[in-house]
Amino acid sequence: MAGWAGKGIMKIVAGERTDMEERKINQELLDFLDGSPTSFHAVAEMKAMLDEAGFSKLSESDLWKLEENRGYYVTRNGSALIAFKIPKRDFAGFQVIASHSDSPALKIKANAEIAVEGKYVKLNVEKYGGLLCAPWLDRPLSVAGRVAVRTSAGIITKLVKLDRDLLIIPSLAIHMNRKVNEGYEYNAQRDLLPLLGGSEAKEGLLKLIAAEAGAEAEDILDADLFLYNRMKGTMVGLNEEFIAAPHLDDLQCAFASLKGFLASVPGDSVAVHCVLDNEEVGSGTKQGAASTFLRDVLQRINYAAGRSDEQYLTALASSFMVSADNAHSIHPNQPDKADPTNRPYINEGIVIKYSANQKYTTDAISGAMFKSICRMAEVPYQTFFNRSDMLGGSTLGNISNSQVALNTVDIGLPQLAMHSCYETAGSKDTVYLAKAAQVLFSSSVRAAEDGEYQIKMYSRSLSVPEFVK
Ligand code: CO
Repeated sequence: MAGWAGKGIMKIVAGERTDMEERKINQELLDFLDGSPTSFHAVAEMKAMLDEAGFSKLSESDLWKLEENRGYYVTRNGSALIAFKIPKRDFAGFQVIASHSDSPALKIKANAEIAVEGKYVKLNVEKYGGLLCAPWLDRPLSVAGRVAVRTSAGIITKLVKLDRDLLIIPSLAIHMNRKVNEGYEYNAQRDLLPLLGGSEAKEGLLKLIAAEAGAEAEDILDADLFLYNRMKGTMVGLNEEFIAAPHLDDLQCAFASLKGFLASVPGDSVAVHCVLDNEEVGSGTKQGAASTFLRDVLQRINYAAGRSDEQYLTALASSFMVSADNAHSIHPNQPDKADPTNRPYINEGIVIKYSANQKYTTDAISGAMFKSICRMAEVPYQTFFNRSDMLGGSTLGNISNSQVALNTVDIGLPQLAMHSCYETAGSKDTVYLAKAAQVLFSSSVRAAEDGEYQIKMYSRSLSVPEFVK
């Protein structure tokens, strides 16, 4: 099959002005983000990239017959995706990178239309995840998601994206709240409802959605519809060193993981690109990190290779997982919000995240393993801790470990304005993670715990063995 072999090591030299390769991969990232207004669309975009690279689609409802030297992918709920490459049946373990497909947003409720004094029609929405409210106001918005349509063949789902400037959430004028700049508490039921139109806009949204789905309005049984920011991503900064775009958390990681995955050449271990949904709301869904999705797929790979349950467990003991979810960079206007001695900056490398209470999975072993990967890939890394007097966010690594317990490290790319609907990150960092992912997916781990813990990370295609003892 085509596309399974690596496409060569991506080259990037830190400190150079946006070179051709860096520009190319970030332009691809911007196109990917533009096509991914929801987790459903992000998975559809990744499927298209995998199809183009010659991967075979699997369904969870079929029996799997898997072959050596082939690549496959499977989705769950249309919003989570796992792709893998099997180099051989007697593989050593799994090399996994897990990221997430969802981002905080405003979700449209059922019976959404609210008439205001017979003059306006606005939409009833609720928050999905921990969003920054202010950036959603005073900018063109539209609607994307999926609908469930009744057909003669049963219920089918269709992706919808209304590709036009459709909605706006207007701020209240400062003259009506003179103290607004001293701090404002947003009320989601009052302040965040988008305006659809004048009185004639009644039932307008359903008509647009039905037309987009190619269905009759009465056949749309249900829907998961989200607002999305219409402002496209762009490169900013004197040397275009920053990417500003929606959904960088966490689609920048998902995209870089996939680029590295496509370019990887697995040797002894199965390479697993895993993108889960619902991280922003606690991961507790059938397609989230707390679900069995990853475990089910790894077990089925093991069974399809004709291996025993015990061999599944030996494979897990020789595996490594990277939980990749974007990290906070030092903020240029509020540098004191960060830890005094661990200072991640944009474009200075992949951020390894630590937390003594294990909100992040990183420990000395997994941190050392990931640093070895970065050294093999010749990319820089940095370290992140929360200030000791501040609570940080959480992510999917430790949640996933309750289903599939692996040596796991938590990392991310440094960014600003996390959970805004328009975030800022670094163009070099996209390349750094793609390169590290390529090396990780091409590597294997041999681990032995015998009083001391010994790990060997090795790669056939990039042979720089590293030891931690
Ligand atoms: Co995230």
